[in-house]
Amino acid sequence: MATQNTKMERIVALCKRRGVLFQSSEIYGGIGGFWDYGPLGVELKRNVREAWWRDMVSGHDDTVPPEGAPSSYDMVGLDTTIIMHPQVWKASGHYDLFYDLFVDCRTCKARFRADQVHDSQCPRKPSKRPGEHDDCDLTDPREFNLMFKTYVGALLDPTAEAYLRPETAQGMFVNFKNVLSSTRVKVPFGMAQIGKAFRNEITPRNFTFRSREFEQMEIEFFCAPDTSSAWYDYWRDRRIAWYESLGLNSHALRLREHGPNERAHYSCGTADIEYAFPFLPDGEFGELEGVSHRSDFDLRSHIEGKLIRDGDALVVERDEDGQPRHAGSGKDLSYFDDTTQTKYVPHVIEPSAGADRATLAFLCEAYDEDAIPDENGVPQERVVLRLHPRLAPIKAAVFPLVRKDGQPDVAAEIYRGLKKRWNVAYDERGSIGKRYRRQDESGTPYCITVDHQTMDDQTVTVRERDTTRQERVKINELEAYVAQSLESAT
Ligand code: GAP
Repeated sequence: MATQNTKMERIVALCKRRGVLFQSSEIYGGIGGFWDYGPLGVELKRNVREAWWRDMVSGHDDTVPPEGAPSSYDMVGLDTTIIMHPQVWKASGHYDLFYDLFVDCRTCKARFRADQVHDSQCPRKPSKRPGEHDDCDLTDPREFNLMFKTYVGALLDPTAEAYLRPETAQGMFVNFKNVLSSTRVKVPFGMAQIGKAFRNEITPRNFTFRSREFEQMEIEFFCAPDTSSAWYDYWRDRRIAWYESLGLNSHALRLREHGPNERAHYSCGTADIEYAFPFLPDGEFGELEGVSHRSDFDLRSHIEGKLIRDGDALVVERDEDGQPRHAGSGKDLSYFDDTTQTKYVPHVIEPSAGADRATLAFLCEAYDEDAIPDENGVPQERVVLRLHPRLAPIKAAVFPLVRKDGQPDVAAEIYRGLKKRWNVAYDERGSIGKRYRRQDESGTPYCITVDHQTMDDQTVTVRERDTTRQERVKINELEAYVAQSLESAT
């Protein structure tokens, strides 16, 4: 079996070979931190997003408390813009505080994240860490804001400056009142959004794990202050269970509660859901999702202006004239709770996931190599993606055993029938063994083969990806068979 490091290299090679992921602008040498999803990858990532949306939003039952929840709650979706009013980022704190510290080498001009200097390589040979060559000349750590800046309109002056959002969350906070007044939701309720986010990471690395353009799947859950701890516990448990339900091994997952010094100044509790990605050394984990208890920080920031911590309290940061350093909207974003007859600024629990990191984790978990007997019983090595059927890019592939005797026509008809419901492939090229191998590498749960017997008794073979077990199924029962098999695996 592949060692951890080799395993990652093999996963990257598979992604390129099968069209899961390509380097962006590859024919021009690529651009660091940007990735394109190929024909197979786009389906995989769509399925990750759709599973999240279905399980968190559209499939949510507003009328009963889900298991472990303090009460029932409403859930709505949003799709907000990437470019927002620049004041949003000033009030939220991103304009002042969303930076990493970096270190430059004046000799070789390379740039490193200050907290990663000891794990980085100087670009010069022989390979050493930054600072270890005699003539390395490192600067002191300096701040680097991670937001991409752009201009709105024709004038390239400071009044036209705007930012690509570094998170989807703010689009939901600023729509709090709009959602309350246009729907029938009441606190507690959640808003959910899937969308692109952009961060000018100093050192993008580890395939899509740290990219400059990526997608987030975020929930902002609004609740009464006195219930917020119970909701924080609920969301932490609910979110880690979601990854397990889609196939991540619980031994490779962990929930890591942040210590008080690691938390953001507004946070009353943050837990990372982490996965043992194969590019990390044994025993190390990488963040998949953060679940954060953000108190009333977000809504208050958009009411009052940028907040800073003062002892136990969050207070508006003021300039030398006593004015808010960055003003909020001044709009009333408080909530009147008619069950308790109280008015308060809701607290927020935020489960914030990365669609690309989740996709990468599902890919890493699914990747496997084994040996299975070929048509002559000789063991053959294969690569197989043991993806959960909900995530599999292609649900079934249909093959005629030979390209004659009417088999392609029957196979194409089956393909067209199944295609109405699922993403299904048709393939008549190459040996049947090679066609199976191709689908195994793509993670296709079922291969359906039309053979000589089909022409006599209207049955086909259905081969299951993980076990390679084959069954004969009547053509007119095939759709129900595939539906039931996909369903029972979920
Ligand atoms: N609104 C809170 C927020 O954005 P975050 O921990 O900065 O929190 C949430 O980001 C998730 O977004 C992370 O857990 C990760 O899955 C994903 N993410 C963050 N930065 C990323 C990057 N550079 N590349 C890929 N995914 C990233």
